[in-house]
Amino acid sequence: MDHFELKNGELHAEDVPLAAISRETGTPVYVYSRATLTRHARVFREALSALPSVHIAFAVKSNPNLAVLRLLAREGYGADVVSEGEMNRALAAGMKAEDVVFSGVGKTHAELTAAVKAGIGQFNLESEEEGIELAEIAASLGKTASCALRVNPDVDAKTHAKISTGKSENKFGVPYDLAAEIYARLSALPGLEMRGLAVHIGSQISDLEPSRQAFLKMGELMKALRGQGLSVTHMDLGGGLGVPYKAGDQLPTPADYGAMVAEVAGGWGATLMFEPGRVITGNSGVLVTEVVRVKQGANHPWVVVDAAMNDLARPAMYDAWHDFMAVKPSGETMTANIVGPICESSDTFAMAREIDVVKKGDLGVFRTAGAYGATMANTYNSRALVPEVMVDGDKWSLVANRIDPATILAAEQVPEWLD
Ligand code: LLP
Repeated sequence: MDHFELKNGELHAEDVPLAAISRETGTPVYVYSRATLTRHARVFREALSALPSVHIAFAVKSNPNLAVLRLLAREGYGADVVSEGEMNRALAAGMKAEDVVFSGVGKTHAELTAAVKAGIGQFNLESEEEGIELAEIAASLGKTASCALRVNPDVDAKTHAKISTGKSENKFGVPYDLAAEIYARLSALPGLEMRGLAVHIGSQISDLEPSRQAFLKMGELMKALRGQGLSVTHMDLGGGLGVPYKAGDQLPTPADYGAMVAEVAGGWGATLMFEPGRVITGNSGVLVTEVVRVKQGANHPWVVVDAAMNDLARPAMYDAWHDFMAVKPSGETMTANIVGPICESSDTFAMAREIDVVKKGDLGVFRTAGAYGATMANTYNSRALVPEVMVDGDKWSLVANRIDPATILAAEQVPEWLD
């Protein structure tokens, strides 16, 4: 459910016409709905309310905008971060350091040091090597780092290969069969407090069974560790719950997910930790774009829009579907290809798709663009970095400026020896 609806024949974000926003900001522009974000944050929390002890760390990578993080901090969310940059954003947004989880397979020495100094709540270690390095850093600073060991359960999440993370051929975590001995060795190191296990098998998960299998395996491992006298008080079950992108998509709801977790893990006697990203932010944002022109094609017309793969990379990277809708639909439809202006064929949003009739100068939106949208934007083809707006009822604010190509150009210089 979201708050992007037609009112008087015109698409609104909550009570604000998208046309009114883009008149001031220009296009392309991402627009987020505060009410939708808040609703999703609450629905997800509510879905876990049967569990005795829960910690929710929003996956910052899905939408790191400062205003989005502030909203989620106010909703009592912590953060799952994967770089020092994300960590600093979470802290700047008002999240408490102890509510931050630091994930990622390649945390550098400098990042581990900064995170120990900041008092980050949990490090999700992806290897024994990382644990040894972190132990040395923490001990030298006279601190103890709380850690979970990320385990690769060798379970296929049945999602797109590029966002699958729980198979043994994926780079993430330690092999399931080695996890117990690694956990035991790390537990003996000064500077570390091994407090749990972590798992994340993939993103845009549309079938709960692989997650259930992975969680069952993690439960077995937890029991084995406890049987050896090791402490396991926290179990991080990751993120990954998918969202509908297309009319008719049937996805498990947060309530379905919560019920499955309660069935498998409700009796574990551990604090359960979650790292949702897309399910919170996905449907909370749209990308507004203007039609540059409609040009004739061999089969279908090409609708050339002013948004491109640098603004919304998902279709080019994962063949992802984003619904397209005219901001002022006439009620008539046509079959067309929707493409951006970038000079490669991967800059394609849709082929042979039935869409609202649009013409030069019309506005349209790509829906479900709140997750992995602006955060993956870049400046390819020397295009601007796309701005972001948040709407709240009948008011709206720019929450990220457009970064012009001129600003990016100003950060470059020609060495004198070239002239
Ligand atoms: N936790 C960990 C350790 C992760 O690697 C991820 C996502 C999440 C949590 C959050 O997953 P979510 O709840 O958002 O599914 N760019 C891709 C998605 C990449 C996901 C990376 N990891 C896309 O646009 O589909």
